[in-house]
Amino acid sequence: MNESAVFKAARELDQQDPLAPFRSRFVIDDPELIYLDGNSLGRLPIAAVERAQQIVRDEWGCRLIRGWSDSPNSWMDLAGRIGDKIGGLVGAEPGELRVADSTSVNLFKLAVAALRAQPGRSRLITDDLNFPSDVYILQAAIEAVGGHHRLEIVPSSDGITTPLSLLETVVDEHTALVALSHTAFKSAFVHDMTAVNHLAHQHGALILWDLSHSAGAVQVELRGSGADLAVGCTYKYLNGGPGAPAFLYVRRELQDRLENPISGWLGHADPFSFVLDYAPAEGIRRFMTGSPPIASTALVEPGVDLLLEAGMEAVRAKSVAQTSFLLDLWETELKPLGFELRSPRAPERRGSHLALGHPEAWRICQALIAEYHVIPDFRVPDNLRLGVAPLYNTFEELAKAMNALRQIVEERRYARYTTERTGVT
Ligand SMILES: Cc1ncc(COP(=O)(O)O)c(C=O)c1O
Repeated sequence: MNESAVFKAARELDQQDPLAPFRSRFVIDDPELIYLDGNSLGRLPIAAVERAQQIVRDEWGCRLIRGWSDSPNSWMDLAGRIGDKIGGLVGAEPGELRVADSTSVNLFKLAVAALRAQPGRSRLITDDLNFPSDVYILQAAIEAVGGHHRLEIVPSSDGITTPLSLLETVVDEHTALVALSHTAFKSAFVHDMTAVNHLAHQHGALILWDLSHSAGAVQVELRGSGADLAVGCTYKYLNGGPGAPAFLYVRRELQDRLENPISGWLGHADPFSFVLDYAPAEGIRRFMTGSPPIASTALVEPGVDLLLEAGMEAVRAKSVAQTSFLLDLWETELKPLGFELRSPRAPERRGSHLALGHPEAWRICQALIAEYHVIPDFRVPDNLRLGVAPLYNTFEELAKAMNALRQIVEERRYARYTTERTGVT
């Protein structure tokens, strides 16, 4: 396909895009900037700017301590109220999901709770596509419950996917817990949640999903698929802001069976009784620990509202169309230049980014940013990730970014940049 035909096709797709108006609901400070890193840190919704003013100036500034109990939007209810909204995006029922802590802390809490609820079972299964920090947390969870479980890290077949057949060879009646990233951070491989849940349950194991790269990008049916537990972050496709608090999900039937290992006062049945003995609250609130960060929790809501308004079906349809658009351009334009596809081809197994491998990926990234005003992200050693956020990325932006990649390699523009790595990538 020649260059002008690609741009013409991209513009036509943008004209037909039912989600196109959502771009104007975000702060686009620099219209020339092509931001393909919404899979790391989503853009700022305009409504979040207004909400920040309100929560800081009006609520904190004017209401002071009364904000905790002001009706109808008390700070005490914020984590549950926004949690229910996120639940609407990932197929949880009201009262099954809550905003709390960071993904890592939530993962620790739920992994320890799950291991303790499965006495006599000695194995915890994950795969090597999981986010490394999740693996550190699973190791820490094993230590916290006595150090007797064995962590089995299933090696992916090709560094891109972990087929169900591989998990089937390891999940057995000794398995206490299966803990996986639903969408893999590097390759964007998406596990078949229903099938993995079924596999775990067939053997009496519990299943815990990290939805960080799925929430707001991939359709998830936690309850419908039979998932037990989940965690996820809000700063990627949910556009909650840097370091925004995360969420945790516990299937209703398990809530009173599991115990929060970090049992703080906000998980207590009666936090203001100030009695010295811990008594867990009923339901999802028992998985809370300390005071929620109110200002940053409040800022999660505007991004979630935008996704609810758009509808996950439409968001997912556009995400698939956009990653497929990138994939087609990779095939014709970039593959001949030495770029390797590091994401699944099958759209149902692919999340909302495309990973491309190239020996010069780091220097290519630097050229993209400096010369073309395109922000992708980079993952060691040689992965370039192009994240599409359907609420604000256009097809034309994708065409421009792919064209830039082609030029950078064809003209060896990357050769001007350092091989030394710096800062957050
Ligand atoms: C898949 C996945 N899990 C966990 C984390 C860690 O999240 P946090 O730093 O909020 O604990 C990240 C961070 O990017 C992630 O991508």
